[in-house]
Amino acid sequence: MGVSRAIYPGSFDPVTLGHLDIIHRARQLFDSLIVAVAENEAKSALFTAEERIMMIEEAVGDDPGITVKRLDGLLVDFARAEEAFVVIRGLRAVSDFEFEFQMALMNRRLEPHLETIFLTPQEDYTFLSSRIVKEVGRLGGDVTPFVPTPVVLRLKSKFSGGASDGNSSTGQRLG
Ligand code: PNS
Repeated sequence: MGVSRAIYPGSFDPVTLGHLDIIHRARQLFDSLIVAVAENEAKSALFTAEERIMMIEEAVGDDPGITVKRLDGLLVDFARAEEAFVVIRGLRAVSDFEFEFQMALMNRRLEPHLETIFLTPQEDYTFLSSRIVKEVGRLGGDVTPFVPTPVVLRLKSKFSGGASDGNSSTGQRLG
């Protein structure tokens, strides 16, 4: 039996062109894709979950096959509630792999029906991360090649108020 519904979870703080590339690739493989925007307590976000959801909705347009929802709690509980047992994650570099592997296996342990599928973005986007985009934006650099227009505008307005990006993590993951 084929699977027609998948979840693409992430922090998306903010969504980048790399994320959008994965969304469009996943959408070609599945009839329906739920982009699940997580409240991640380990990361303090620049944008609220509502802002992040709105930016993704604006960026994907009116494709009825894509819905954007907030993810509170465990991904496996969300997957059961949505009856969607395929999780999409993007893999950009080897540095992503360890965390992604741990997460995929933990999710499968928690919900044996859950499968994780890794997609690789267009190579132009392999260096992109939300964390780096925020840093470039905060320091006044041009982010237009890296994020969709609604995000460019919101980053400008966030940083014109002198806000900090609230995420000083220097971990190895591209984030
Ligand atoms: O974009 P990110 O920050 O790499 O995404 C990580 C995310 C949101 C996919 C992950 O933290 C997650 O699934 N959070 C939901 C809570 C959960 O289920 N945690 C256990 C995962 S093993």
